[in-house]
Amino acid sequence: MPGHAQNGNGDDDMAHNVKLEFKPYDKPAEGGDVVVFVGADRKSAPSAAGLLGAELDETIARAAELERFKGKAKSVLVLIAPGGLAADRLIVAGLGEGEERARLDWTALGGAVCARLSAGGHAHVLFEAPGEAASAENAADFALGVLLRSYRFDRYKTKKKDDDNGGAPARVTIHVSDPAAAKRAWKSRAAVADGVFLARDLVNEPPNVLYPAAFAERAAELSRLGVDVEILDEKALKKLGMRALLGVGQGSHNESRVVIMRWNGARDDVKPIAFVGKGVTFDTGGISIKPAQNMEDMKGDMAGAACVVGLMHALAARKAKVNAIGAIGLVENMPDGRAQRPGDIVTSMSGQTIEIVNTDAEGRLVLADVLWHVQDKYGPAFMVDLATLTGAILVALGTEHAGLFSNNDELAERIAAAGRATGEKVWRMPLAPEYDKLIDSKFADMKNTGGRNGGSITAAQFLQRFVNNTPWAHLDIAGTGMSSPSSDINQSWGSGWGVRLLDQLVKDHYES
Ligand code: BES
Ligand code: MN
Ligand code: ZN
Repeated sequence: MPGHAQNGNGDDDMAHNVKLEFKPYDKPAEGGDVVVFVGADRKSAPSAAGLLGAELDETIARAAELERFKGKAKSVLVLIAPGGLAADRLIVAGLGEGEERARLDWTALGGAVCARLSAGGHAHVLFEAPGEAASAENAADFALGVLLRSYRFDRYKTKKKDDDNGGAPARVTIHVSDPAAAKRAWKSRAAVADGVFLARDLVNEPPNVLYPAAFAERAAELSRLGVDVEILDEKALKKLGMRALLGVGQGSHNESRVVIMRWNGARDDVKPIAFVGKGVTFDTGGISIKPAQNMEDMKGDMAGAACVVGLMHALAARKAKVNAIGAIGLVENMPDGRAQRPGDIVTSMSGQTIEIVNTDAEGRLVLADVLWHVQDKYGPAFMVDLATLTGAILVALGTEHAGLFSNNDELAERIAAAGRATGEKVWRMPLAPEYDKLIDSKFADMKNTGGRNGGSITAAQFLQRFVNNTPWAHLDIAGTGMSSPSSDINQSWGSGWGVRLLDQLVKDHYES
């Protein structure tokens, strides 16, 4: 991958921005940053104190007093290293107390600490929580946060600041009591981090570079990990009858594609689970053209598809014991002499007819055919689709939660639980016949929008018309997949949202 060499084998010597390694406790080398953890009492762990000298806690206590540092979870205090310490800087990270401590998100902590490390430097993390044994899992989660935070997308900047490593540390050594256990725990996280980076890269790429066929080629690279990749071109899509999807792409000189990725990590007789992504590589709105302001953001209208590719990467790289299908619909929505018109009626692959009343409601047309195809051909145990589907979901939920719609309470609750575990949060929204009625059409079986009110819900109702009895969930990620606010673990415009969520869902419930 450009920008980030892929290394899904979980080697601790990864070719990322940051070189991460797990080592036993050791006297930190000369120079660099030393990181220690403290609770609300601002006392470091015994081995940190042992390694750094008895005055350490006194130094921390004095500095904390001056800086009003209370040891709250994820708060970070940066000091010039006191005399007697070989390091240049001492970094004190808070773990919090009580409830806060119990709920501590080690990944977010890793991100918060990474933000304060010396750019281009070498940091030594004394990974020990005072008063308890810090687990190998915690250390691996912390490392994941460091790595996710360090991501940069700078391949189009010709003047790189090569001295500062893009603001991230060059090397982070995490000192743990059991390095072998930490490395084992790290392996699967490294695979997930690579999947997130792949998704972010795809979302950040400009739309002249990442048009549908180019996107399909990127997805095809997953074959190196043992994923079976099939690319359907326009001829194949016509043959299948995907006229709803093809109608969206017909105004573009860039041909449409559908990509089917299959990872077979379980026995052949185990039903696959399926993930479907909206991949509009650029959404002008078509003839119902969007205003100029911020239209450039519509390069990110393929964040759903990017997540599906990133997830398939993660599952394959960590050799998940699951049969998973990833299917993405790739089109460019352009105005043109051949473009689809408002008023056109198209016949979808399902046979149902759709009156196009707004060419900017294109994502649902793409998903309609891909969902139908996946359900029909693969009979999956469930389907989850991800799409930057509606601006209305931003109005309803902002950028903190993705909208979750589902025909199945168990699946919905499992996704919500994975959201709580990973911090990629979802909020369930309603589906009901009263909403479904709003997309009935005078001229065809349905129309492609139900008006302004409840816009995210009528969009989901539209999708549901292409799902039979298969358990299904739809995630509207218009607010979370792109252009969302920076967080402890993400500073990138394209967030890679959903890769960690769905990897967790698979890990918790669907691996044999
Ligand atoms: N891709 C947009 C939705 C979107 C908006 C994503 C803002 C990310 C940020 C989608 O194709 C769209 O244009 N939806 C319309 C639907 C309307 C015409 C019914 C919308 O949300 O306005
Ligand atoms: Mn649109
Ligand atoms: Zn769109």
